[in-house]
Amino acid sequence: MARVERVFSGVQPTGNLHLGNYLGAIVNFVKLQENHNCIYCVVDLHAITQPVSVWGGPTELARNIREVTAAFIASGIDPKKHIVFNQSQVSGHAELAWLLNCVARIGWLNRMTQFKEKAGKDRENASVGLYDYPVLMAADILLYRATHVPVGEDQKQHLELARDIAQKFNNDFGDSVRTHGFADGEFFPQPEPLITGPATRVMSLRDGTKKMSKSDSSDNSRINLTDDADTIAQKIRKAKTDPEPLPSEEKGLETRPEADNLVGIYAALAGRTKQDVLREFGGGQFSSFKNALAELCIAKLAPIATEMKRLTADPGHVDSILIEGASRAGALAEETMKAAKDIIGFVRKP
Ligand code: TYM
Repeated sequence: MARVERVFSGVQPTGNLHLGNYLGAIVNFVKLQENHNCIYCVVDLHAITQPVSVWGGPTELARNIREVTAAFIASGIDPKKHIVFNQSQVSGHAELAWLLNCVARIGWLNRMTQFKEKAGKDRENASVGLYDYPVLMAADILLYRATHVPVGEDQKQHLELARDIAQKFNNDFGDSVRTHGFADGEFFPQPEPLITGPATRVMSLRDGTKKMSKSDSSDNSRINLTDDADTIAQKIRKAKTDPEPLPSEEKGLETRPEADNLVGIYAALAGRTKQDVLREFGGGQFSSFKNALAELCIAKLAPIATEMKRLTADPGHVDSILIEGASRAGALAEETMKAAKDIIGFVRKP
């Protein structure tokens, strides 16, 4: 099996794709297309790890799968040159997750902070799937033997786990890995997280110490990719700030989470550094900075929202993209699954 540089990442279809998803992940997905083979996945199997009330039931799930797909394409991902598909159409994800469940250790999963946050106080009542979420995520990546994984900051720990699982698999089956054509003993490459840009952790517009999130009960806390221009302007105008003018140096943002967040958002949208943004706006009042930010945000997001609307109006077309992508992803996945089964020692049809 040839070793290629391959990018994999996923987004959950749980509704309300927001500026954090866009700047922390999707913008980087688009950039990486230039010089990598990329696979971008709508991770619908992950969505159902949460209670049905969170992902909204069958009709809502299907709608959201198509909406995330539309967001990928409207943002500039090319499903012809790269692969776009939804996870549940490639059975290898669930199948490899089972194999990796037997490699991952309970102690490793017990350390996962996202499970603790999402399960909350009522941990006994969380789904087994939610607990196992990071193993399925490792399977997503390792199924394609991906080398690079663009994600937001919040996924760092899951990526570290995926690396540990890859390494333990390679070690546990070391001799077999070598006799099955991987002389260096590395069947699964160590996936490298790509957490880049000035907005790897976009914070809530209502509270600069809380992550911008799909599940925040306040819609004013986030900018949704489907928000119209007036809504975006209003949310930015209402965004929490402090009474000081903007600093001229990045250091001055350190103790000012809300200011830091808005400057980071501006920098990421404009493709500039925070320092560069402060060179222009430092010393000024928030009101004029917010006007400039709203304008920039609308200029970048409005065309995406329009294109998303156009695409989702034709679900048949979106589905055909996903089906085609799943067939290409499935072929790659099958290669990995065959090799993994041989390495472990399962008997199979040649
Ligand atoms: P999801 O759908 O929760 O998030 C999708 C991507 O958006 C990033 N993100 C953010 N980035 C910056 N600021 C924020 N406030 C913010 N909120 C979300 C996330 O880091 C993520 O990159 N577990 C993944 C989905 C997944 C996956 C994978 C990713 C499943 N399998 C394999 C990579 C590789 C997740 O959090 O999705």
